Parts: sequence; structure tokens; C-alpha cells
Amino acid sequence: MKITVYGASGYQGRLVLAELARRGIEPILAGRDPARLTQAAEATGLHGAQRRQAAAGDHRALARAFTGSDAVINCAGPFTFTARAVAAAAIDAGCHYVDTCGEQLAIKDLFDTLASRARGAGVSVVPAATDGCVLLDLLASLVAARLDRIGEMRTVHLIGPGGASRAARCARWPRRSRPSDRAAWSTTAASGVLHRPAAAVRCGCRGGRRCCRLRGSRCRRW
Ligand SMILES: NC(=O)c1ccc[n+]([C@@H]2O[C@H](COP(=O)([O-])OP(=O)(O)OC[C@H]3O[C@@H](n4cnc5c(N)ncnc54)[C@H](OP(=O)(O)O)[C@@H]3O)[C@@H](O)[C@H]2O)c1
Repeated sequence: MKITVYGASGYQGRLVLAELARRGIEPILAGRDPARLTQAAEATGLHGAQRRQAAAGDHRALARAFTGSDAVINCAGPFTFTARAVAAAAIDAGCHYVDTCGEQLAIKDLFDTLASRARGAGVSVVPAATDGCVLLDLLASLVAARLDRIGEMRTVHLIGPGGASRAARCARWPRRSRPSDRAAWSTTAASGVLHRPAAAVRCGCRGGRRCCRLRGSRCRRW
């Protein structure tokens, strides 16, 4: 199986590269910065792996980079700025698409804009393949299947204190989103139910001096 990892140079991208290598799959590294792709290849021992440069805004370059692969794993976040473009190019290149997005608006956008295109191309688009989203979606689906007349379900994913990568810090609620957009956050897991997963829960002190209630340590500024 041929797999292209887009955003291969980031923290998650490197984890995915390492896992693919562990499974005996030599991935193609794709991203916007060739120097950073080389660094990632060196760091993960994939010295001879193919590298393809494509900016997220360049549909033709992305489709070219993905052509010949069976699947694209998108690790380039914040996904609000990459998911639709990368997924659309994957579909046009005939590749399945998976990402690690936890940004609800970007996830919803993929379902809203690319579902029929993916169906037409005979490929799967699987956003939100993360420890937070997959488990919460499954739980929401199970609960929804057992209860009648749910209007809204809130799920919470607790993350203890710790560092966050550049992209993870930026992937908080998109600054540009409006309150009306926020009210529309949903995933399709529990059909007919507005399911608003909170990908990460901060302690609510907004980086102030109060303690994080999770483990009693100081809250980091997110
Ligand atoms: N870290 C986690 O545990 C975790 C867990 C779940 C979900 N996520 C999500 O996964 C995403 C990646 O996280 P990360 O920790 O790997 O972040 P990271 O280390 O900052 O890496 C971000 C990656 O995305 C690329 N990128 C960013 N903006 C781009 C753009 N506009 N066009 C093309 N490439 C772009 C970067 O390319 P350059 O190297 O060229 O800058 C880099 O490869 C984030 O959205 C994060 O919220 C992270």
C-alpha cells in the first residue's frame, strides 16, 4: 500500500511516519517546506523516502503529489486552513483521506462540501481520526441509539496539563468563527443529534493564576 503523509514535518506527521515505518510501509512525505520534510525524513530514519512539495493552497500541486497513492494521511494543522484543500486533492487523485483533525467546523465542512464528490470518486474521507474524536463519536452514537428525543449532547475530552505543539495551540476555536458558527458545531456520528465534542478542556482560567482542576498544576496558557 502506498501512503502519502501530508504535513509530514510536524509532531504528528513524524509520529505517523515512524508508525508506518514500523509497519514496513515506506510513506511519501508531502508538505509545503522541502527542508522541513528532509529533516523529518532524517529524524524518522526514512532517508530514501520520496518527498513531494505542495502548498495547501495549490490544488494541482497537491493532486500531483498524491497521485499514485492509495491513501493520504493529513497531519497539517490547524485543519481549518488545510482540510478541505487536502481532502479535495486526495479525492481528485483517487486516494482515500484520513486526518487527525479535532476542529469541529473543519470536520463539518468536509461532510458538507465533499461527501458527494468522495462518493462519486469511490474513496473514503475519514476526518477526526484522533483519540479524542473517535471515542467520543462512538460513545455519542451508542448513547443516541439507546435514548429517544435527544436535542443536544455534549461530550468532554479531558487532557491533563502538558505542552502543546504550534498547530495544537492554534487549533483552539478558530478566531474567525462567529458565535452563529459555533452553535452549528456538530459531527455526524449521532445522526439527528447535535453533538458538540470539546476536543480539549481547559480549566477555564484562561491562562491565569488559578490552578488547573485536573491535576492541581498551574494551567498553561493555551
Ligand atoms: N499533537 C497532538 O497530540 C495532536 C493530537 C490531535 C490532533 N492534533 C492536531 O493535529 C494537527 C497537527 O498537530 P502537530 O502537533 O503535528 O503540529 P505541528 O508540530 O505544529 O505541525 C504542523 C504541521 O502542519 C503543517 N502545516 C501547518 N499549516 C500548514 C499550511 N497552511 N499548509 C501546509 N502545511 C501546514 C506544518 O508544516 P511546516 O513544517 O512546513 O510548518 C507541519 O508539518 C493540529 O491541528 C493539532 O491540533 C494534534
